[in-house]
Amino acid sequence: MHHSLPLDPTSAAAIADTGLRYALVDPGDETGGVAWVRADVRGFHADDVDHKDALDYLRAFTERRMIGVYDDAAASPEIPVATVSSWVTSLTTPGTPEQTQTVDAWAISSVTVSPTHRRRGIARALLEGELRTAVAGGLPLAALTVSEATIYRRFGFACAALVADMTIDTRRAKWTGPAARGRVQFVERATLRAQADDIERRARRGIPGEVDRWGRRWDEFFGLTPDTEKESKGLRAVRYDDENGEPQGFALYKLKGDDNDFSAHTVTVTEFVAVTDDAYAGLWRYLLELDLVTEVRASLRSVDEPLRWMIADARALRETLVSDHLWLRVLDVPATLTARRYAAAGSVAFTVTDDLGFAAGRFVLSTDATGSPTCTRSDAPADAEVHLNVAEVGALLLGGVSATTLRAAGRLTATRDAATLVDRLFHSPVPPRLGIWF
Ligand SMILES: CC(C)(COP(=O)(O)OP(=O)(O)OC[C@H]1O[C@@H](n2cnc3c(N)ncnc32)[C@H](O)[C@@H]1OP(=O)(O)O)[C@@H](O)C(=O)NCCC(=O)NCCS
Repeated sequence: MHHSLPLDPTSAAAIADTGLRYALVDPGDETGGVAWVRADVRGFHADDVDHKDALDYLRAFTERRMIGVYDDAAASPEIPVATVSSWVTSLTTPGTPEQTQTVDAWAISSVTVSPTHRRRGIARALLEGELRTAVAGGLPLAALTVSEATIYRRFGFACAALVADMTIDTRRAKWTGPAARGRVQFVERATLRAQADDIERRARRGIPGEVDRWGRRWDEFFGLTPDTEKESKGLRAVRYDDENGEPQGFALYKLKGDDNDFSAHTVTVTEFVAVTDDAYAGLWRYLLELDLVTEVRASLRSVDEPLRWMIADARALRETLVSDHLWLRVLDVPATLTARRYAAAGSVAFTVTDDLGFAAGRFVLSTDATGSPTCTRSDAPADAEVHLNVAEVGALLLGGVSATTLRAAGRLTATRDAATLVDRLFHSPVPPRLGIWF
């Protein structure tokens, strides 16, 4: 569907005013696609790619809408001076174990502007063009992960999910969690790769903030692309099967030795997926009890990992970094707020400001005792009144931050009681998280 959306005319005009050309890249055009990929990797300071690798890289973009900005007077006019790509992804929102909730979001990626063309409004034209295109396509919100945390608020985005990097000292940890009933076993990487999507899709159902993976991303994780193959010889793949032999999780990890002490390897977990609590326990226990290993590291984990409560010495687990990760931009308040379940009954009126005009207005969200919502643009009275910028609607959406915290930070205006009611409604028992960059 998104491939057929036309170029945004406002951004096309803004870019044309700077003497440049804003154009869609035809996914079937190999030469144009390769040039676009080379601009994208250069924009993120990565090594240049040859034609063959660029074609492989392009596989990730077959489902995406790719846009380039071209300087026809440049020495290499075929290589865009700016890039952006976008696609529709399914984002998990707070739901119930029985009923997963998701919302379609406009995922935005590959935002690059060449250093030769920076700070003349090209990124602004690209971003605003993406938001208008998302609205034209009927998407209620946009999503991205960011390299700089200071760029996107001006476009109405806010962090909706934090993630943590963690390090576990395995000599101190000592497993005290439940004994898993199934088994952990080594599986060939290519075999597990074929099962990964199904297992992860089931695991993702319970985690607000998670989004669809895609084929080449899995190939990269499993070291099965030309550019990841060589460095993945040491990648280990283990799968957790439950007592009925059903795959319920997997982990990918690498080991690094200590030159002075062979008994002190470090394990870096590059992917950890568990559908059930049993799989979670089985896989973490396996990783923490590896012989000749003293440290296990994992990144993009939840800020509230059950693992902390499964070891004898809670201080053996250190969060080495907690950082913003998933950023959301609400475009349609009623459609977004009704795409999740709530934790209590009540009504809240949100008066939203939005510099770009997409989501401004007063909206009343009402939830019943089952957590089921309705939301309309309305002047009707409500139990609580909250005034906020559209960015903070995105911050609250998945329950990743409380209204009480945002109130204390001056990011929304409400009475203390009103903020407390919002917190009762928006609470998510599972904190939001996102396990990939996109
Ligand atoms: C970040 C990047 C896309 C900005 O492109 P640009 O065309 O120079 O940006 P613009 O001129 O359109 O600036 C838009 C606004 O963002 C601000 N901005 C731009 N880059 C910024 C940065 N790195 N940090 C903070 N603010 C930034 C500008 O000051 C401007 O603000 P204003 O319109 O409110 O005055 C570009 O520098 C780049 O490609 N960097 C490397 C790749 C990268 O980090 N991409 C972001 C991926 S999440």
